[in-house]
Amino acid sequence: MSKDRVLSGMRPTGFMHLGHYHGALKNWVSLQSQHECFYFVADWHALTSHYDDPRVIEQSTFDMVTDWLAAGLDPNQCTIFLQSQVPQHAELTVLLGMITPLGWLERVPTYKEQQENLKEKDLTTYGFLGYPLMQAADIVVYRAQHVPVGEDQVSHLEITREIARRFNHIYGREPGFEEKAAAAVKKLGGKLGKRYEAMKTAYNQDGNAEALAQAKALVAAAGSLSNAEKDMLQAFLTGARKTILPEPQALLTPTSKIIGLDGRKMSKSYGNGIDLREPPAAVEQKIKRMPTDPKRARRTDPGNPDDCPVWTLHQVYSNDDTKAWVRQGCTTAGIGCLECKQPVIDAVNAELAPMQARIREIEAKPGYVKEVLAAGCVRAREAAEATMLEVRQAMGLAKV
Ligand code: TRP
Ligand code: SF4
Repeated sequence: MSKDRVLSGMRPTGFMHLGHYHGALKNWVSLQSQHECFYFVADWHALTSHYDDPRVIEQSTFDMVTDWLAAGLDPNQCTIFLQSQVPQHAELTVLLGMITPLGWLERVPTYKEQQENLKEKDLTTYGFLGYPLMQAADIVVYRAQHVPVGEDQVSHLEITREIARRFNHIYGREPGFEEKAAAAVKKLGGKLGKRYEAMKTAYNQDGNAEALAQAKALVAAAGSLSNAEKDMLQAFLTGARKTILPEPQALLTPTSKIIGLDGRKMSKSYGNGIDLREPPAAVEQKIKRMPTDPKRARRTDPGNPDDCPVWTLHQVYSNDDTKAWVRQGCTTAGIGCLECKQPVIDAVNAELAPMQARIREIEAKPGYVKEVLAAGCVRAREAAEATMLEVRQAMGLAKV
């Protein structure tokens, strides 16, 4: 049985921090053994907003993939590759661009939001408007069923489905489909064939759902048809077309949000993160300096964990006993904040130690990350090309 396909990507932002790990990477790692996973560096997407930073993008690519491997992505279990080395992504972006209405792109919420939030960046380019279109191509070129992403990407998955649906609607007419279906109806036999046609008409002309259900049952029970013929007649009933590009679903999995050191979302641009490469002493310092419930100005003031960013770390790192100890100690001023932070410091360092050892191993093998990416690109190109063969044909692009 073939496994479901999973695809996800990240723009190359350099070193990964705990927010990336708990919000995405850890989940990617657990998916790799259950699905056929493709994970890629979205370096073209990085160019949509950072076209004037090419050197940063290149270095960030290698740093980021090193961290992916250290976090547990295994190139023997999943395919890790670089978007810009798989030209089929670009080709499909061009082709999908032919059928994507401008208004769809203008209405994607991230388009206006990013323009407002990143005033210092030039986001008035054609490439930036096309960001979600290129993302759609990234996904459908692998015919991926599942796309693990955060909440912020849900609108991009929506437009991906809309574009795929539109594509299938325009190009999904299999040549000769009607004739083949008619032949299968004939095989049903005179009486059943007539009933099938009558119910098909009742459904399509009058929207008679009962007729549809009956026709489906009739086809399912037909002894004279092969499974392929049954599938065809089921599809024929609703006028369904061939699905060239399946619609993907977002996989909003149980990822934990790690809050940044200042209580905002952990983000490189806020400088409030803990990198996977953070040395233990720096982890300790950063967490010790982290603000706590503002009502606990003095050691003797009781606090409330729900108003404290440190509590969000306990929720990720601590067991029930420790959490109970925090709640009790905080609300009664029984423990101090430094004391409260210690188990988190220890847990973060324990989590990072093996990853940092892996990073040292990987960096001791120059060229290793490049090899992993190169091998991944070969596999990715193969999978993407299989889709493109059908897409080109469906769109009337001649092969010479
Ligand atoms: N837009 C995604 C992000 O910012 C990155 C991305 C690009 C992506 N192409 C993708 C994610 C395809 C999933 C699938 O996080
Ligand atoms: Fe936050 Fe812990 Fe201090 Fe309470 S005791 S305010 S939870 S750090």
